[in-house]
Amino acid sequence: IPTHYEKDVSSILIPHGVIMDRVNKLARLIVDESNGPLVVCCILKGGHQYFADLVNVIKKLTKKSGNSVPLSLEFIRVKSYHNDQSTGDVKVSLTEDECKEFKGKNLLIVEDIIDTGATMVKLLEKLRQYEPASIKVTSLLIKKTDRSNGYIPDYVGFAIPDAFVVGYALDYNEYFRDLDHICVISEHGKERYANA
Ligand code: PRP
Ligand code: MN
Ligand code: MG
Repeated sequence: IPTHYEKDVSSILIPHGVIMDRVNKLARLIVDESNGPLVVCCILKGGHQYFADLVNVIKKLTKKSGNSVPLSLEFIRVKSYHNDQSTGDVKVSLTEDECKEFKGKNLLIVEDIIDTGATMVKLLEKLRQYEPASIKVTSLLIKKTDRSNGYIPDYVGFAIPDAFVVGYALDYNEYFRDLDHICVISEHGKERYANA
């Protein structure tokens, strides 16, 4: 833990090395089950670290594996959180031109966490209108919470307890993305970085 966050997290939930082991396994699974080119869609900002590491592993895998998959990369900005709460207002930044590119393609959506599921359900609703050939979703984390809308992605890294987690690009009001491990935020951290 960098000293600037020492008091702001209460525990390490998933150490960086464990994350990377899991990303390796997920990459293998995704490559094995894919047929043809993939449009890998990074859900910014939280998804960027998992996306970067996943794409890196897939690149290495397809150099030597039987199932070699050409990738193209897309970036979609989606936001709904304020402090530790979903506002329920999911903003998706995609232009009409960008959406039209999805027609007939095999999409792989890469997300950091499914919490209530509101973000993913809203995003999938929008993407389906542009008639991709298929949509698969991978999320590094899924939270076990009674606020869930029931959505479950195709490829999940870890199921986690109902605590607010940060690190590995997951943020609290934009802080903690610069933390390698996935950690539980402390009360100190919540107060320190709270927004009005
Ligand atoms: C977070 C997270 C997921 C979403 C999950 O994004 O990265 O995208 O919320 O929550 P949900 O399942 O309850 O909808 P956020 O809105 O914080 O934007 P960010 O990725 O830029 O941090
Ligand atoms: Mn996000
Ligand atoms: Mg966020």
